[in-house]
Amino acid sequence: MRTLWMDRYDSWEKTGKNHQGHAFSTTTLREVERLLPRKVERTAETGCGKSTILFSNISSDHRVFAIDDRRHGEKSSVRFFEVCPLSIPENVTFVFGPTQKTLPTYHQHEAYDIVLLDGPHGYPFPELEYLFLYPHVKKGGLLIVDDVLIPTIGRLADFLAEDEMWDVVGLVEGTAIFRRTEADTFDPTGDGWWAQRYNRRRVSPKRDIFLKDGTVEDHFTKQDIDRKVHGG
Ligand SMILES: C[S@@+](CC[C@H](N)C(=O)[O-])C[C@H]1O[C@@H](n2cnc3c(N)ncnc32)[C@H](O)[C@@H]1O
Repeated sequence: MRTLWMDRYDSWEKTGKNHQGHAFSTTTLREVERLLPRKVERTAETGCGKSTILFSNISSDHRVFAIDDRRHGEKSSVRFFEVCPLSIPENVTFVFGPTQKTLPTYHQHEAYDIVLLDGPHGYPFPELEYLFLYPHVKKGGLLIVDDVLIPTIGRLADFLAEDEMWDVVGLVEGTAIFRRTEADTFDPTGDGWWAQRYNRRRVSPKRDIFLKDGTVEDHFTKQDIDRKVHGG
């Protein structure tokens, strides 16, 4: 099936180069584009690269929280966005610096239609990014978590798959996509682990808070996606 932006990107990519920051494959991003609305008001991502080119085309206010890696020349993910003729820079605001430092001090968030987590991948950084961004995803909006093949990110995706705030939209290679439900926003400054389904299903059945609503099954890490993606 054809897509608007990634088909255009594909023809540029034949002459353009890729950055070295483990970019999305064009096939994955094409599948992701199919699941996204054609035009949205506001989006955010952590990390930068090929996905930034796509978001700059579908969003009129795209915020990018990423390291300024332009000193790395041709390998730079920011430069990759800047030189691509399909990029629309006027739709993009960069907040440069490690997300571990920029997200806790960034107070200009507005409601986002789509948030992509694809910055630093070591534990607990995607979870920290989730903490600062989930309260700002619109009800009905999308959360995209890349690289759920990394075990700690897979566990985050497993948690989200069972959480009341998210419905699973799909898995494209190693990229998980969730839709924000109408559930109340979990208080990002409180506690409440006992109210979260992932925890309630996994405590001892002898405890009062055990949730008897079906078998416990890790949605992403038990899908054998490593074999599906890498074969063997
Ligand atoms: C996997 S790449 C993102 C690929 C991109 N989504 C694409 O489609 O091409 C990871 C990105 O995160 C950035 N990055 C790495 N560590 C970071 C950190 N601590 N804070 C912010 N950005 C970081 C890298 O510079 C790079 O832009």
